[in-house]
Amino acid sequence: MTRMEALFLALAGVTIVGATGLAGAQTRPAPAAAAAPSGEALFLGKCGYCHLEGGTGTMMLERRLGKGKALLGKRTDLPADYVKAVARNGLNSMPTITRVEVTDAELDRIAAFIASKKKAGGK
Ligand code: HEC
Repeated sequence: MTRMEALFLALAGVTIVGATGLAGAQTRPAPAAAAAPSGEALFLGKCGYCHLEGGTGTMMLERRLGKGKALLGKRTDLPADYVKAVARNGLNSMPTITRVEVTDAELDRIAAFIASKKKAGGK
């Protein structure tokens, strides 16, 4: 794991703790939460098929928004709520991702992983 990836994972963890309203945000997540797949791992497993290099999502986003916005995992402009809305409703040629394919808890972690770059990137 690179240092940047570790940073993203750490930020995603902070976001999840904040979103669930747990007191004592400085404490580490409960062991159960820590053992769950990370937002990044879920993104690679559930979205990577289309959103990594060469995927249809990457190609369509490049066509519509340009090369700088093609790779979803590198975007710094996407809020978590937008990511979740697109996943549940679909967008143009992106199909709806059902709760059977990706649970709400998993989608929360994926969206937090993508949105963590927004905060880290400062824009
Ligand atoms: C079967 C292929 C496929 C899978 C799987 C897929 N996507 Fe997509 N996604 C697309 C395509 C194609 C687009 C481009 C739609 C367009 O703009 O025409 C897209 C676009 C998006 C966008 C819009 C980005 C923007 O700038 O507007 C988001 C957000 C997104 N996908 C999130 C996800 C997430 C999160 C997952 C995993 C849970 C996922 N996608 C899985 C094909 C896929």
